[in-house]
Amino acid sequence: MPNRSIDIRSYEGVRDLGPLLEFASRSFAERLPLNACWHPGDIAWQLMPDYDRPHRVRMWLSGGRVEAVTMFPKVNQLWLEILPDAEELLPELIERAERSVLRANRQTFSIRAFEGDTRRIAALEALGYVAGEPESVSFRIDLAEPLPDSPTPKGFRVRDSVDIDPGARAKAHRDAWDDLSEIGQPNARSQFSGDHYRGLMTAPNYDPTLDILVEADDGTLIVNAVCWADERSGVGVFEPVGTHARYRKRGLTKLAMREALRRIQERGLKTGRVGTAHFNQPAISAYSGVGFELFDRGRWWTKVLGVA
Ligand SMILES: CC(C)(COP(=O)(O)OP(=O)(O)OC[C@H]1O[C@@H](n2cnc3c(N)ncnc32)[C@H](O)[C@@H]1OP(=O)(O)O)[C@@H](O)C(=O)NCCC(=O)NCCS
Repeated sequence: MPNRSIDIRSYEGVRDLGPLLEFASRSFAERLPLNACWHPGDIAWQLMPDYDRPHRVRMWLSGGRVEAVTMFPKVNQLWLEILPDAEELLPELIERAERSVLRANRQTFSIRAFEGDTRRIAALEALGYVAGEPESVSFRIDLAEPLPDSPTPKGFRVRDSVDIDPGARAKAHRDAWDDLSEIGQPNARSQFSGDHYRGLMTAPNYDPTLDILVEADDGTLIVNAVCWADERSGVGVFEPVGTHARYRKRGLTKLAMREALRRIQERGLKTGRVGTAHFNQPAISAYSGVGFELFDRGRWWTKVLGVA
């Protein structure tokens, strides 16, 4: 679409949330069967708990519609997504990002791309980028088939987060994310508080009936799996999933995820998706156990700037 006037600016506050969620939903739907950088659930999770403040999210707008988005997870790393009918924005978007990396005195720049997106990769290669480190793995499950039953072990029950106490819900998150020793991060500590949960609840696409928990008879919340439904794409995404370290490898995560999948299946969604770091073997095993199949991999595409 040549000669469009594009306005480039950062996310300023909650009035930008709707257009950004709309972008994520459209890019997810319109890029199918390819992967997209952000599902609306990923946006809601990344910007929580305060949607009404500026965020380091660059939006490329045309006539009020968000056409492309960039985020820098690190000063020299870029995540990006573009609507399919605006893909021609890619070179300019990357040129601007490269300038900001150089301004930060960094020479090596990496852009995340999914291996399934051969067109995007060819464009990156044409701009001088080469395949670098692996980053993530993406799983999907087809909801056309009935999901296998998972018997609930004695002493536990599956529930959702309707009317949950925010402090207890936040503790469940911390109990999972405070122990990442299995993936080589023994010092990881989560800051997720009741206020974070209260903030998350204000996201228009947060649905407590899809925030599934496994609770022990003594009231301890053991698993928490937040599923986000997107009707337009027919895809539900999990972000995040975590289980109390003392209760892992008992199939309890599988139980919670299958319950969420059953609920989105009943609503007519077609696919479940979840992603994780390429080295997160416990998550990879758990998702495979649920019935998810690996369908894509994220990788950093790297360039030394200033070198032709
Ligand atoms: C990833 C995580 C949620 C998995 O939880 P879990 O309760 O152990 O998962 P489950 O027991 O339901 O796992 C289902 C299957 O995976 C297997 N599995 C789980 N962890 C495993 C491991 N470390 N090694 C081998 N197999 C493993 C289980 O044995 C089970 O196998 P089965 O289907 O043959 O019975 C948990 O390790 C966790 O909270 N990690 C920290 C947070 C995190 O990394 N979350 C995911 C980020 S995307």
